Order: sequence, then structure tokens, then C-alpha cells
Amino acid sequence: MPEATTAPAASMIAVEALRKSLRTGSTTVDILKGIDFTIAPGEFVAIMGASGSGKSTLLGLLAGLDNPTSGNVSLNGVAISYLAEDKLAQLRGRTIGFVFQSYQLIPTLTALENVLLPYELNDESGDRKAGLTRARDLLTSVGLSARMDHYPVQLSGGEQQRVALARAFILRPPIVLADEPTGNLDTANGQHILDLLLSLNSREGTTLVLVTHDPALAAHASRRIVLRDGLVISDERTQAS
Ligand SMILES: Nc1ncnc2c1ncn2[C@@H]1O[C@H](COP(=O)(O)OP(=O)(O)OP(=O)(O)O)[C@@H](O)[C@H]1O
Ligand SMILES: [Mg+2]
Repeated sequence: MPEATTAPAASMIAVEALRKSLRTGSTTVDILKGIDFTIAPGEFVAIMGASGSGKSTLLGLLAGLDNPTSGNVSLNGVAISYLAEDKLAQLRGRTIGFVFQSYQLIPTLTALENVLLPYELNDESGDRKAGLTRARDLLTSVGLSARMDHYPVQLSGGEQQRVALARAFILRPPIVLADEPTGNLDTANGQHILDLLLSLNSREGTTLVLVTHDPALAAHASRRIVLRDGLVISDERTQAS
């Protein structure tokens, strides 16, 4: 079947009546209770809300890392929520870069190898040299040209997160999702990571969704969506942008 990628979709991310419930023993916990929004290509959206409000659950559903109980997520015009796992994995690899609070680098690979890994798993051109060039460029642009052959354990938290940023952007995904990417960093390193995310976001035209507790970081977003108890309680454009 031809892919729906010829005309750009009006929304890069569309979330419709999204619900997620989990059964624990005999009780069912409703984590997301009906979420609707659309995010346009190139938007930078901050998702905020108290601990336990459902932010990470929502981000996992946007990434297709988890299935909703009902409702749907579409990425770039493709409904992902009920795709078969192999199709989903393929689409996820090409469409989404993910940045985690805890970096999630592979300890047995160097910085360069970590950045290159999604390329090796997903790129169909077989052009390893082009991947290497891009990985080196990205590591240089996050200030790690002298650390490419270091293993994660030899890097500081801020440096590991910069490697993770480079990895998230290697395949030029149209969407980057970040779950508290500065949550384990001090203020200066957190600001540095945000600046890098913003410059990669504008340089590459990426749609960026950032979960954060930090109002100072959220202030840089062009839109803020606030969750409470599994529902959107506000969705506002900001002065930024
Ligand atoms: N596997 C699970 N089983 C049962 N409940 C879960 C599970 N995962 C998450 N929850 C519950 O769902 C709710 C939302 O969790 P989620 O991790 O999405 O919150 P969050 O907004 O990301 O919080 P935080 O800011 O602390 O990261 C919480 O009440 C959590 O306890
Ligand atoms: Mg969370």
C-alpha cells in the first residue's frame, strides 16, 4: 500500500478521544480520561501537570510505545494506535525521536555508536558513511566533538543527555518527544539541553513535544498543554515563538 506521505498532513500529531485505563487486581485505574488535541508541523508544545497527572503515559501513547484503551493517535496523517507491531516499529523509527529523563544510552556502545544506532537499525539507503558523517556533525553541534569515543560511564549527566539528543535527531524525524529531558540535570545543564533542543528544533523544522515540571523551560514553548488527573485542563498559546 502506498504511504500517505505525499501531501503534508495539516496536523503532525492528532489525538482523538484518547483513553488509557489499567487494571490492577480487581480495580481499574483510569489514567487518561479522554484527551483531544492536534499539533501542527513545527510547533513546540510543553506538556505540564502535577506528578501522576498522566504526562508520561500520554507521551508513550504519542510514541506508539503503548496502546490506548480507546481513541486514537495519528502521526503525520497515519493512525498508529492499532497498527501491527512491525508496521508500528517501522513508522516509529522513521517518525519519532525520543529523549528520556534518564538518557537511556547503551552502556556498551560509545557516544558515536549510540548516536549511529537508530541509523543502522532504520536507514534503508545502506549508506553507512552518510550516517557516520551526520552522527559526527550532530555530536559536534552538541559540543561533544572531543568525546565521541567515550562510553556513557565516562560522560557526565549533561554530556549523556547531549548524546541522547544527537541520537534523537539522527534520522531527521519530523517529531521529537522529550519526557523531562532536564529532570536529572542542574539548572545550567538543563538550560543548555533546552537551548540545544530549540536550535535543533528550528534548524531541522522538527515538531517538539516536551514534558516538563519547570515553568522556566515551558516558557520557551509556543504552546502549553496542562493535564490534571488524566484530562487537559488548559491548552494555551504563549508569548514565546
Ligand atoms: N503500569 C501502571 N500500573 C498502574 N498504574 C500506573 C501504571 N503506570 C502509571 N500508572 C499511574 O498512572 C498515573 C499517571 O502516571 P504517569 O507516569 O503518566 O504520570 P506523570 O504525569 O508522568 O507523573 P510524573 O510527573 O511523576 O512523571 C499515575 O497515577 C500512575 O501511578
Ligand atoms: Mg512522568
